[in-house]
Amino acid sequence: KKTDNQILVIFGASGDLTARKLIPGLFNLYLAKQLPEKFIVLGTSRSDLTDEDFRKRVVYESPYLKEKLGTQENGRAESFANMLFYEDLGGDYDTDYSNLRKRVETLKEEFNTSGNIIYYLSTPPRLYETIAQNLADAGMNTQNNGWKRLIVEKPFGYSLETAKKLNKGLHQYFDESQIYRIDHYLGKETVQNLLVTRFSNSIFEPLWNRNYIKHVEITNAESVGVEKRGGYYDKSGALRDMFQNHLLQIVSLVVMEPPIGDEPEEIRNEKVKALKSLQIMKDHKTLYNNTVRAQYVASEVHGERVKGYREEDGVESDSITETYAAIKFYVNNWRWEGVPFYVRTAKRMPTKVTEVVVHFKSPHHQIFKDSGMNNKDNKLIIRIQPDEGILVKFGVKVPGQGFKVERANLDFYYSSLTQTYVMEAYERLLLDAMQGDATLYARADEVEAAWEFVDPILDYWKNGKDVRMYGYAAGVWGPENADDLIEGNGFWRNPGKN
Ligand code: BG6
Repeated sequence: KKTDNQILVIFGASGDLTARKLIPGLFNLYLAKQLPEKFIVLGTSRSDLTDEDFRKRVVYESPYLKEKLGTQENGRAESFANMLFYEDLGGDYDTDYSNLRKRVETLKEEFNTSGNIIYYLSTPPRLYETIAQNLADAGMNTQNNGWKRLIVEKPFGYSLETAKKLNKGLHQYFDESQIYRIDHYLGKETVQNLLVTRFSNSIFEPLWNRNYIKHVEITNAESVGVEKRGGYYDKSGALRDMFQNHLLQIVSLVVMEPPIGDEPEEIRNEKVKALKSLQIMKDHKTLYNNTVRAQYVASEVHGERVKGYREEDGVESDSITETYAAIKFYVNNWRWEGVPFYVRTAKRMPTKVTEVVVHFKSPHHQIFKDSGMNNKDNKLIIRIQPDEGILVKFGVKVPGQGFKVERANLDFYYSSLTQTYVMEAYERLLLDAMQGDATLYARADEVEAAWEFVDPILDYWKNGKDVRMYGYAAGVWGPENADDLIEGNGFWRNPGKN
């Protein structure tokens, strides 16, 4: 696809995301010759930096590019760094942007980039609307001399109400077709591959419904704790930080009906329909029975003492923010009626892993009584990360007399496609936005539908009666009570073990 010449303006350019993800993503695109011929980046934030300071910070002295730079002849890093510029906002995001506009105009003339501009909002979310408004006030949102796009980082809202307010606010200054809400999980190859697995094969989709699927289990585990983000995390929690966005995006791809084509709006329409069909938990009994939250407590992991959540910097000592969330829910539509979905996400787990496990029903009539397959259903396991790939578990005959059945694996690893360069999530998503492809970005109604499902759970956890907060030792698979959710349907899969 063709990528128009353009300028990328990053708000929050002195922040962590710019150095950790955006600049390395752009550097990879540069090395892969994917950037347009005339392209520059203008970083901006409240910090007072020169172009050179900015280049040092995000390229020459960046810990995130260290390895890469070591393998590049200096010339390439330098010519990349020379595309980066910086203009400070004079100490406040809520200010007159005419200086910023002048700088953009000058750079546009100097580098002949045309008037196409992406504004990337990587600031604290409370500033998103302010920035959009100030851009509009400075006349920087008009499209008569080139397109303008707005990429908005997560979190998009704090609740349904705030998400709606933000959508409304942004829509005052930018049209929905100009807004790109990022969810980096959609940039992951294996997440996109959910669509291909389902809709490009004839062996899975016919079974992809309530007649053959017993339940669906999705695990997202991280071994790290809240790291240096205690302050942010304590106001957010696992449900807002991971579930409302990344995990419900995965759910929507598992649940959705086949779109009529691969046009962005076709795919996004189906995802919205999927999210709208999630059964919203309204009454106390359902919320009580189908949601589990917990926090990690101090423990020893691989011989090292690991802090408990409440001891982390920036976290209140009596915090009731969850670092573990497990939710059971149903999907109210023709395809999924009665099939439970179990989704869990947590920090300080034994390992980092994200996977979707589709558990199939047993054959209607068991012929091989002594099969060893009892209670071992067929499973399709989609490994989102790490060891990206797909695993099918099925029964085979054990050689010898009789019909003893054992379980075997058909295992595909993405890494076996060795010739293929796999783009990082941010790299891929940046390139899509640069080319105007919004397929892998969340639409306004999609984000709102996800909040609609999450809001009652958040409300119950905050204000409900008899809400429990469990503890789990850092380094284990969460509280045992979470097994109660899945009772009758076996246990959570121990990724990598069974
Ligand atoms: C981010 C969350 O969106 O995703 C983090 O804010 C989390 O808390 C991260 O660690 C996980 O992303 P990945 O790609 O490492 O699974």
